[in-house]
Amino acid sequence: MKGLILAAGYGTRFLPVTKTIPKEMLPLIDRPSIAFIVEEFIDSGIDDIVIITSRRKKTLEDYFDREIELETLFRAEGAKAKLAAVAPPKARFTFIRQQEMLGTGHALLSAKSVMGDEPFVVAYPDDLHFGEPPLSRQLIETFKQTGCTVLSTIHNPPNLERYGILDMADDGFHVTDIIEKPAPGTEPSKEATIGRYLYTPDIFGYLEEGWKKHTGGEYYHTYALKKLMDQGKVVYRQCEGERLDTGSPAGYLQAILRYASTIPEYREVLMDGINGL
Ligand code: G1P
Repeated sequence: MKGLILAAGYGTRFLPVTKTIPKEMLPLIDRPSIAFIVEEFIDSGIDDIVIITSRRKKTLEDYFDREIELETLFRAEGAKAKLAAVAPPKARFTFIRQQEMLGTGHALLSAKSVMGDEPFVVAYPDDLHFGEPPLSRQLIETFKQTGCTVLSTIHNPPNLERYGILDMADDGFHVTDIIEKPAPGTEPSKEATIGRYLYTPDIFGYLEEGWKKHTGGEYYHTYALKKLMDQGKVVYRQCEGERLDTGSPAGYLQAILRYASTIPEYREVLMDGINGL
């Protein structure tokens, strides 16, 4: 299966650093945040990875390439750990450049010819996942059981009004609607979608249909998704494990601390630092 990462956004919440560093390249200590998504894809059996980028994001393409000079040097030195650290992930990468930021629906359409006629997983790089099974694999499992488009959710997070919230059919499993950022108290359920979606390829026909009717401004994927929902072809799966939102500086800091806590040498520094404070 192919995986698609939507990484074309400006990252304005992280200005000024995003003037020159793509948001997805901001590191969690020693690796850029997007590397966690790529790792999740590979651990989920996805090794054909398409990344939608934009101008000023060349470092992102270079990151997933080989570093021949360093490889040669480390090989000569017999520095195995360093060699492993610079090795690119074992996946095939394709980059598509989105020339205008016209929304998620437009970004998905720009990948149509590359994605082919198969289901695929889409990741928003702000949403990182820690735990087993890897989040993309969870969606693939549910797809294999149902043949449907699958939306990943978390149950009743704080600030429901920041998410796309699902409405469900009587079976409690098929999704009938998604309300983007509902006013507090009006949400149809407590299932909040997060940035992982498994789409069946029939989404593209509806994306094209919606694009023809689109009259301006950003074009989201919701029109096409609702068409699939009307036919009973969308289900959801609650995310097992921990989801972190690096889309804001506070969430990004949380992700750094969470990652640091998983590595013994950093964990010690983290605990000392907190005690010092
Ligand atoms: C996007 C989606 C929303 C989803 C959220 C998850 O919103 O539109 O449905 O709940 O990601 O992170 P954004 O965070 O881009 O405002």
